[in-house]
Amino acid sequence: MKIGIIGLGYVGLPLAVAFAEAGHEVVGLDTDSQKTESLARGSSYIEDIGDAVLAPLVERIQATTRHADLASCEAVIICVPTPLTGSREPDLTYLLEAGAALAEVLRSGQLVVLESTTYPGTTRDQLAPVLEGSGLKAGSDFHLAFSPERIDPGRTDFTVRTTPKLVGGLTEACSKQACDLYDLICDEVVVLSSPEAAELSKLLENIFRSVNIAFVNELAQLCDRLDIDVWEVIDAASTKPFGFMRFDPGPGMGGHCLPIDPFYLAFKAREHDFYPEFIELAGKMNQAQPAFCAERIDRALNDAGKPVNGSKILILGVSYKAGVGDTRESPALKIATLLSELGGEVSYHDPHVAHLPQLGLSSVDLDEALATADLAAIVTAHPSLDYAAIAAAVPILVDFRGVTRGIDAGNLVRL
Ligand SMILES: NC(=O)c1ccc[n+]([C@@H]2O[C@H](COP(=O)([O-])OP(=O)(O)OC[C@H]3O[C@@H](n4cnc5c(N)ncnc54)[C@H](O)[C@@H]3O)[C@@H](O)[C@H]2O)c1
Repeated sequence: MKIGIIGLGYVGLPLAVAFAEAGHEVVGLDTDSQKTESLARGSSYIEDIGDAVLAPLVERIQATTRHADLASCEAVIICVPTPLTGSREPDLTYLLEAGAALAEVLRSGQLVVLESTTYPGTTRDQLAPVLEGSGLKAGSDFHLAFSPERIDPGRTDFTVRTTPKLVGGLTEACSKQACDLYDLICDEVVVLSSPEAAELSKLLENIFRSVNIAFVNELAQLCDRLDIDVWEVIDAASTKPFGFMRFDPGPGMGGHCLPIDPFYLAFKAREHDFYPEFIELAGKMNQAQPAFCAERIDRALNDAGKPVNGSKILILGVSYKAGVGDTRESPALKIATLLSELGGEVSYHDPHVAHLPQLGLSSVDLDEALATADLAAIVTAHPSLDYAAIAAAVPILVDFRGVTRGIDAGNLVRL
C-alpha cells in the first residue's frame, strides 16, 4: 500500500517507520521542512527512532512538504498537534489546517484516519466538513475514521505492533478500511462502533492516569504534613495482588498528552451543560504540583538557614519523563521559573536536553555544578545518573521521584 502521514512528530514518524518496515510505501508530510530534510538524509530527530533504523527505510519514506504528493496514497493518516489555547481550550488550528490542505488533493475512494488526540465529535463535526470542502462526501465518496495513537515515548516493552489499535469509522465500511490498514502493522485491531467512542476511549486512558497521578500527588502532600514516607506506603499497598494499581507521585505531569487531554473532554462536557469535577480537579491538582515542589525546595533551603534568593539550585532532569528529551509542559520548567522568580540562581543538568530556550539556559557540567550548588533537586530521574554519588557531592539533595530510596545519606529530602 501507499500510505500518507501528515505530521511527522513523536506519533507520525514511528508510524511511518512501522509501515515502511512492513514493506509499504510512505509519503510523510510535515510543514516543518527541517524535519522533512532531515528524514530525506536518513537522519532521525526522535530519540526512539535511531538512524540505523531509519537508514534502510529512506527509499520507502518519501518526506515532503507538498500536499499534492498525498494524492497517490490509498490512505492518509493525520498526526498533527492538538494543543490548548492560552485560555486552556482545545486548539484545533493545526488539525483544521491539515484537513483543509488535504481537501485540496483528496480523491474518491481514499481513507483518511485521524490519530491526534481530541474530544468526541471532532472527526465527524470538525474534520469531515473540512474534508468535504473537496466536494467529496465523507462515508460515501471517501472513508473517514478515528484511531487513537497509544505510543509512549521511551517505552520498549510495547511497540506499535504489539499495542492493540482502536478504530472507529464513520460507517461500517470506513471501520473495515481502517481495520485493514492497521492490520498491516498491528497484531490486534479493535473496532468500535463510532469515531466518538474511539475518541473518548483515548481520553479515558489518559484521564485515568491523570486522575490517579493527581490522587497520589495529593497523598504525597498529605504525607509531607503527617511526616509519613509516601513511598513506603505506596510500596506496601502495591503488595496487594488485586484491586490496587500503582501510581507514583512526582513533580507534576508533563508531555503533550496528560496535562492537555483532560481539558479537551472538560470543554466538550461544558458544551453539554456538564461539569466533570474529577477531571477538572485532577487537572488543577496536577498543575499545582510544581508549585508544591518549589515550596518544598524553599523549605529544604530554609531548614539549612538559607533563603532561595541567591542560592545556587541545580535541577537534575528537565524533560517531562525519564529517558527522553521532550520538554513539552515539563514541570521542571515551572519549578525553575518559580525559583528564579524568588531570586534563586537556577541551573540544570540533563543528558537529553542540551538547551532550554524557554528559560535561556543550557545544560551545565554535572560535576562542576554539584561542586558549587547549595541544593540539587531530582525533577526527572534519568537512569544514566548516579544518584548516590550526587547525594555525596551536594549539601542538600531533594528527590521528587523516589530514586534515592535505599541511599543512606543525611542530606536527602524526599517528596
Ligand atoms: N507524543 C505522544 O506521546 C503522543 C501519544 C499519543 C497521542 N499523541 C497525540 O498525537 C498528536 C501528535 O502529537 P506528537 O507528539 O506527534 O506532536 P509533534 O509536535 O511531535 O508532531 C506533530 C508534527 O506535526 C507537524 N505539523 C503541524 N501542523 C501541520 C500541518 N498543518 N501539516 C503537516 N504537518 C503539521 C509539526 O511540524 C510536527 O512535526 C497529538 O494530538 C497528541 O496529543 C501524542
